[in-house]
Amino acid sequence: MARTPQAKPGPRRDHALAQYRRRAAVYDLELRLFEPLRRQAVDWLAPARGATVLDVGCGTGLSFPLLQDFIGATGRIVGIEQSAPMLERARQRVQEHGWRNVQLLNSAAEDAPLQGRADAALLHLTHDVMQNDDALARVLAHLRPGAVVLATGLKWAPWWAAPLNLLVLPAALRSVSSLQGLDCPWQRLAGRLVHLDVRQEAGGTLYLARGQVPH
Ligand SMILES: C[S@@+](CC[C@H](N)C(=O)[O-])C[C@H]1O[C@@H](n2cnc3c(N)ncnc32)[C@H](O)[C@@H]1O
Repeated sequence: MARTPQAKPGPRRDHALAQYRRRAAVYDLELRLFEPLRRQAVDWLAPARGATVLDVGCGTGLSFPLLQDFIGATGRIVGIEQSAPMLERARQRVQEHGWRNVQLLNSAAEDAPLQGRADAALLHLTHDVMQNDDALARVLAHLRPGAVVLATGLKWAPWWAAPLNLLVLPAALRSVSSLQGLDCPWQRLAGRLVHLDVRQEAGGTLYLARGQVPH
């Protein structure tokens, strides 16, 4: 009997594009609650003055102002975002601030037309990218040895805080295209980086993972 092909359990691009087409207009408002995590993430990434930072899945560019405070006018941000409506908002933000050191790429991370090697990468709330080997490989190939990578996102709560998953589930359904990997979202990154350090917040429902590209 002929087998029907099984759907791959990983990220689904069409689903993600539809999700963020719907969310783009209200995204910044919805994210208010998570802004302390962004501050923590950028502070821990701490890119040097003059550094080039890849903001992978940059969305509407909410991290740009915090990154600018670190890198200054001599640094550079490369925002990679597959959703055109989300990136359009990032473009407006760049224009409003008059930043001349931000390059925006409307592309999936796995296909991003990157050049050269950046000094740091931020993957803030980008679970779909974290579960995509091709995307991670492409991003890491464009980082210099020793570059710092900082990833954050939702995760399933540990067993002792299992009721918190009643909050994680709706948030995840709204923001990721596959629930795969939510038990240990940084796993794919762990095999590619050195000095990986993981912090868990909010009863283990959020994580920050920081590592470095090996020499
Ligand atoms: C929850 S939002 C986070 C946006 C932004 N990083 C922030 O901090 O607000 C996830 C973003 O990742 C983008 N995304 C998902 N998969 C992607 C991929 N493979 N390549 C590029 N962007 C992707 C989505 O379009 C969405 O804008």
